[in-house]
Amino acid sequence: MHPHVEKILLDENHINERVRQLGQQITQDYQGESILMVGILKGAMIFLADLVRHIEVTTFFDFMAVSSYGAGTISSGVVRILKDLDKSIEGKHVIIVEDIVDTGLTLRYMVENMKSRGPASLKICTLLDKPDRRKVEVPIDYNGFSIPDEFVVGYGLDYNERYRNLPYIAVLKPEIYKG
Ligand code: PRP
Ligand code: MN
Ligand code: MG
Repeated sequence: MHPHVEKILLDENHINERVRQLGQQITQDYQGESILMVGILKGAMIFLADLVRHIEVTTFFDFMAVSSYGAGTISSGVVRILKDLDKSIEGKHVIIVEDIVDTGLTLRYMVENMKSRGPASLKICTLLDKPDRRKVEVPIDYNGFSIPDEFVVGYGLDYNERYRNLPYIAVLKPEIYKG
């Protein structure tokens, strides 16, 4: 275990099993179709990479990188696009892939933005849901785990850009968050 970690919330086996189930569910729901997985960088990178290996319909991927306007923890819900999609999604079956839904502000923006581009369908898949923190409702179609309101890292999720590479979801020791 990483020395900065206080406790592991979801270990590798637990995550792998759930990701496999989500892949199977998506495979069933999209039989005979092809899908475009849109990963939201950077957090969703690892989840998307594992998830797509359990999907058995024709799968494409693209990525967007976004950043909330405003400093610190106060999220305005206004999102700036740092990297846009490479191609049009018009007429395609799109699944937005996130690592975590917290306030919901990032996803609300993403959903409105994607809808305006005319996809054939649009769904949301997230590894983690933190419902206690929600400010705006977003319809989650595929959810890995609902978790309590604790700051978590690992499996793509960062604290000041660190810890994304941990293979599990964990809570850091309090002294690490204090800096
Ligand atoms: C995190 C996370 C989600 C978003 C969720 O991304 O990966 O994208 O915040 O928060 P919300 O529901 O309150 O909008 P972050 O902006 O930290 O960027 P990152 O993915 O590059 O870490
Ligand atoms: Mn993110
Ligand atoms: Mg982050």
